[in-house]
Amino acid sequence: MSKSADFSPILDHLAIIMDGNGRWAEQRGLPRVAGHQQGVRTVIDVVDECVRQKISYLTLFAFSSENWGRPQSEVDTLMSLLLEFLASQRQRMLDDGVRLRVIGDHSRLSKEVRSALQRAELETANGKHLVLTLALSYGGRDEIVRAARKIAQKVAAGEVAPEAVSAADFEMALDTAGLPDPDLLIRTSGELRISNFLLWQLAYAEFYFVDVYWPDFGPVELRQALESYCQRRRRFGLTAEQTAEGEGLSNNVS
Ligand code: IPE
Ligand code: IPE
Ligand code: MG
Repeated sequence: MSKSADFSPILDHLAIIMDGNGRWAEQRGLPRVAGHQQGVRTVIDVVDECVRQKISYLTLFAFSSENWGRPQSEVDTLMSLLLEFLASQRQRMLDDGVRLRVIGDHSRLSKEVRSALQRAELETANGKHLVLTLALSYGGRDEIVRAARKIAQKVAAGEVAPEAVSAADFEMALDTAGLPDPDLLIRTSGELRISNFLLWQLAYAEFYFVDVYWPDFGPVELRQALESYCQRRRRFGLTAEQTAEGEGLSNNVS
């Protein structure tokens, strides 16, 4: 992967709801597992393209807290694919400077998956190009409740006064502590919802919904999403005048 191109990144943090694996497979008369397998290939290509685009943070919704309710065989398949992904991509992540981290409620994951994730996080800890965050057993509401509990414990212990709790304290208590908020959220598969993903962090993200199943998404579709992002004007509650034209988003996707 060449990092020689001299251009500034389009955005810092891209978040993606990777949806439509099952329908992709069903459309072809294949079992859902085939869609998930193909979906892993898309992940690899998209990570590559993000490194190429010098995006610093990529957060992927891989398994939601609600996905535990799927048939056990599908849950097992997804966990095996995750283990395979970690093993097969280890060297590539090291070579490309990708640092892996995970968010979510990991108490529900098997010991095997938990230790593979911990190992991958540790081994890739020095990656400098891209922070790849996998949201696993993750739900935005669950994350907010867990953060509120952490803060409540501090308040109960007399470490913080209730009126002193700030948005910054809250951010620090979330799983995403230390990550900037996403600039752009992409959801594939044509569904127009966020399905409990990053509820706090997406407050001012730009949204891009694309009618393509995740296994058919790739670098071309990603660049189209980035192009769309470049046309947006983010105002963060201010007037257009305050967020002056010239300070709009960059407009070249290479
Ligand atoms: C996304 O694809 C992968 C996960 C949610 C784990 P789906 O499995 O949700 O595919 P569809 O939405 O049923 O087509
Ligand atoms: C969201 O997709 C979760 C992931 C992509 C991991 P779902 O397929 O679970 O969402 P819904 O059920 O269509 O809202
Ligand atoms: Mg789905």
